[in-house]
Amino acid sequence: MRPPDPTCTHSGNLRILMTINVEKLVNPRALKAAKYDMKHVTVCWEHDGEIQRAMSNESAYSPLESVQAAIRDIAGKVNWYPEDASECASLRDKLAAYASVQRENVTLANGSMELLDILFQTFIAQPGVDEVILVAPDYTAYSIRARLFGAVTRFAIGGEDTDKVADNILELVTPRTKFVLLSRPNNPTGKVMRTEDVLHILDSGVLTVVDEAYIELADEGTEVAPWINSRDNLIVSRTFSKAFGLAGLRLGYVLATPQIIHYVNLVRHVFNVNLVAMVAAEASLNDMDNVKARIDEQRQTREWLTEQIARVPGLRPIPSQGNFILVDIADAGKKPEEFVSQLLNRGIFVRDFSKKYGLEPDRYFRITVGQRQDMERLAQVLQSIC
Ligand SMILES: Cc1ncc(COP(=O)(O)O)c(C=O)c1O
Repeated sequence: MRPPDPTCTHSGNLRILMTINVEKLVNPRALKAAKYDMKHVTVCWEHDGEIQRAMSNESAYSPLESVQAAIRDIAGKVNWYPEDASECASLRDKLAAYASVQRENVTLANGSMELLDILFQTFIAQPGVDEVILVAPDYTAYSIRARLFGAVTRFAIGGEDTDKVADNILELVTPRTKFVLLSRPNNPTGKVMRTEDVLHILDSGVLTVVDEAYIELADEGTEVAPWINSRDNLIVSRTFSKAFGLAGLRLGYVLATPQIIHYVNLVRHVFNVNLVAMVAAEASLNDMDNVKARIDEQRQTREWLTEQIARVPGLRPIPSQGNFILVDIADAGKKPEEFVSQLLNRGIFVRDFSKKYGLEPDRYFRITVGQRQDMERLAQVLQSIC
């Protein structure tokens, strides 16, 4: 008879009886990690079809027919692993052409949120020492993920009425700075940092990650992606979740020098991008006329909605270059949460920004711009509750 295996049968039982102190084992950064609040998304899926989603900056358009057909066609092949994101020459060529760079400047990620994690893993070597510079306000996931990976976060004052963001960023650069990370257009203000300001930051030599999640919605010529051809301290992050309307498939991509792309490829998981997302992205890039028509429509709806909101007493929309509008309600005599719940009672989910770091408290909520007829209804509801 084999002697009892102390690590198997007995310890198996023991393990059940013994209580481990999980808190002592868990990475202290995970212990302290802030949770990215996803309740709004859960509520919308639980009441799918009943709620107008104007809270997560998704696209309100279903995927184009050509993209849906490509998704249906590939469904029968998902028994196979996808091509690795460092290969898929055809998709990377199309992305490179679209962004005016070369294939070697491109790799893919499971949404641009995964890209953030990959960048932190690639560059943050000494937790509690290495620093990243963020802007306040900016996309909430930046600081949550930066801290999880051990980066010390330093915040440059941004905000809707600051023209000195670049100077504020540069003042924070130290020998421990790994990179600057900012969204352009900014989420949640919808403002675009001036081109000369981005150049000013890049000229200082600091590694700079520009998140162009909403770039397609901004004015023509706003993008900095083509500068990758001449700047080795620029990384651009992009996504198919916004203008391309594929948030549920999770596809992001990064543009940088071949050297940076090499390390990103080493850090990310193989098979991080699924086959359906790859095929849908390529189908979208093959149907750019229709993608662009929708983008134009969204821009027009955004401008129209901005005017409508400006007519509502007490509301001040902040002109936006994204697919969303931040609304200042300082003069409305109500708190943002009241707007959010009154709109939700009428089936419209907008996002409360009363406690957003970098924005004055109790002053803002954000509306994602959807299709015109839904925005007409939203404008009427806003009129009626003000
Ligand atoms: C600035 C910014 N970057 C990235 C993301 C996330 O994009 P993805 O769906 O590609 O992870 C968002 C989502 O709202 C965002 O606002």
